[in-house]
Amino acid sequence: MKNIDLNRIPSHIAIVMDGNGRWAQAHGVPRLAGHNAGMLAMKNIVRRCGQLGVGHLTVYAFSTENWKRSAEEVGGIFRLLILYVERELAELHKNNVRVSILGDYEKLPADAVSSLKKALKKTAGNTGLHFCIALNYGSRDEITQACRRLAVKAKAGQLDPEDITADHISRHLFTGEEMERVPDPDLVIRTSGEKRLSNFLLWQSAYSEFVFVDTLWPDFTVEEFEKAIIEYQGRERRFGGREQK
Ligand code: FPP
Repeated sequence: MKNIDLNRIPSHIAIVMDGNGRWAQAHGVPRLAGHNAGMLAMKNIVRRCGQLGVGHLTVYAFSTENWKRSAEEVGGIFRLLILYVERELAELHKNNVRVSILGDYEKLPADAVSSLKKALKKTAGNTGLHFCIALNYGSRDEITQACRRLAVKAKAGQLDPEDITADHISRHLFTGEEMERVPDPDLVIRTSGEKRLSNFLLWQSAYSEFVFVDTLWPDFTVEEFEKAIIEYQGRERRFGGREQK
């Protein structure tokens, strides 16, 4: 197998961490045990991203559609999130990781919100890996909110609708100016064999490379993560232009 090219590490990697439920079923354990195993897998990937010099890592932890799950599962995911912050915040901070949240996270239970705020505050000045956790996130919701904000500016006479460009939309997304403009993901990985985006970074992934693997998220190892990066490094990116000769 080829080695990873450390000079061409993607600047932004986004991951749909799918398959915790099926992993739990396959092991005959409750779904929440699957999410717990998923949290451990996530921890390893975050650490590896820091070591490899990845600039931004975005993980899809809870979508705007995930509220449809049982109250027990939803509550359990938030408890795990609090546990993750409690257990990992010191190490994340030591490793110079900056934590951000993508999405309407203030609608989460109050204890989860306060735990997240603590993580945001503590790591705000860090300059290493930027770790974005997508929570209560949905791309359509994000784009809708951006349109609404532009419409408000247009109505107030601050912006001529004729002047609205794609860049205006980008700047008003959660990944826009509020986050000092996170670059679009170079690589999007989805585990568990599903080949869809599920309302994740729809706008931002216009020119991303996609790697789909069959492994269920809790079984996704650092080695497999590196394999996905190597696959990405073998791709030719044209951004709609022609092959560079
Ligand atoms: C998808 O698996 C995973 C989720 C909806 C939750 C992701 C959560 C974690 C990785 C751990 C918790 C960590 C944080 C930071 C919240 P699924 O349940 O959709 O799997 P299935 O398709 O097999 O049912």
